[in-house]
Amino acid sequence: MASFPITRTTTPKVKPADDELSFGKVLTDHMFLMDYQEEKGWHSPRIVPYGPLSLDPATSVLHYGQAIFDGLKAFRGDDDQIRMFRPDRHAERFNRSGQIMCMPELPVDIIRQSFDALVGLEHEWVPRKPGTALYLRPTIIATDVMLGVHPAHNYLYFLILSPVGTYYKEGVKPVKILASDTHVRAVKGGTGEAKTAGNYAASLAGQRDAANAGYSQVLYLDGVNRKYLDEVGTMNIMLRIGDEVITPPLTGTILDGVTRASTMQLMRDWGLRVTERQIAIEEVMAAGRDGTLKEMWGTGTAAVVSPVGTLGYKGEDVLINGGEIGDVTRRLYDAITGLQYGRSNDPHGWMSIVRKG
Ligand code: COI
Repeated sequence: MASFPITRTTTPKVKPADDELSFGKVLTDHMFLMDYQEEKGWHSPRIVPYGPLSLDPATSVLHYGQAIFDGLKAFRGDDDQIRMFRPDRHAERFNRSGQIMCMPELPVDIIRQSFDALVGLEHEWVPRKPGTALYLRPTIIATDVMLGVHPAHNYLYFLILSPVGTYYKEGVKPVKILASDTHVRAVKGGTGEAKTAGNYAASLAGQRDAANAGYSQVLYLDGVNRKYLDEVGTMNIMLRIGDEVITPPLTGTILDGVTRASTMQLMRDWGLRVTERQIAIEEVMAAGRDGTLKEMWGTGTAAVVSPVGTLGYKGEDVLINGGEIGDVTRRLYDAITGLQYGRSNDPHGWMSIVRKG
């Protein structure tokens, strides 16, 4: 592995207890930085103490949002080894987001080396308690200092780490989600597929309104017909009607989720019928009413596999599987976490060891 210049912190933080962890509130002691200039390419990789970035107020990312990020996790297994889940696929998706946002490619092997180097240095920050992990947040921002709207010529890559517990305060208990008939998150031809800051900004008003109505998340419908399921702001959506698992297809408006792809692969390995197709909210509500909607869940790095217990739409709620986690959801949660904590075989080679126990 490449080695990078490291400036160590002189004021290490006190690490929180594993059972106090929520999502993303605590950051570790160091961060990885690297600069890009059009004439030089990517240069000056380095690990430095975690701390504020100094940006001119006219820095383009602050005005026009040319920013991408990704999110992946490193886990401490029962055997004390530290493993990351599908880092290559995350690195490739990071670059796909960059293409959509007119940003320069960062070679996958450099991204991987930054993951390995920083997680290796911060290995003591990987929590131990089941359900916890060290979350990696690679990010690139445009750093041109000028107010014209244009793809920047200068960028900063940074990688920061955060020990995390479950994303939802409910843990793996089923959540209530609201299919919004007022807010949309993305449209075809836009940036919906990219992990870019603006998509999350665009999801806030819908999220606020859903929270005010007593739901924990919003299920966005497609922006043209306001009819077909798209995704939940922080996770892809899947459901089972009878014995068919259905998930919306990748048409450019939703994120190509790594947990989405992995759970689809697992279900196909198990012989389940998995269909990627457009599914109308009215079809889902009708299946909820007549009891054929057996279960519904979201997938995501932060959310893992999160059961949905109640789906609301236009003032009506349907209760799914009596508000309890369904069989496929439970099996997927167990299978994904089994791999992540090194408890089960890894036939697809999804886990990457960062540090031996
Ligand atoms: C993730 O699952 O990694 C996400 O990026 C969701 C989020 C917390 C924005």
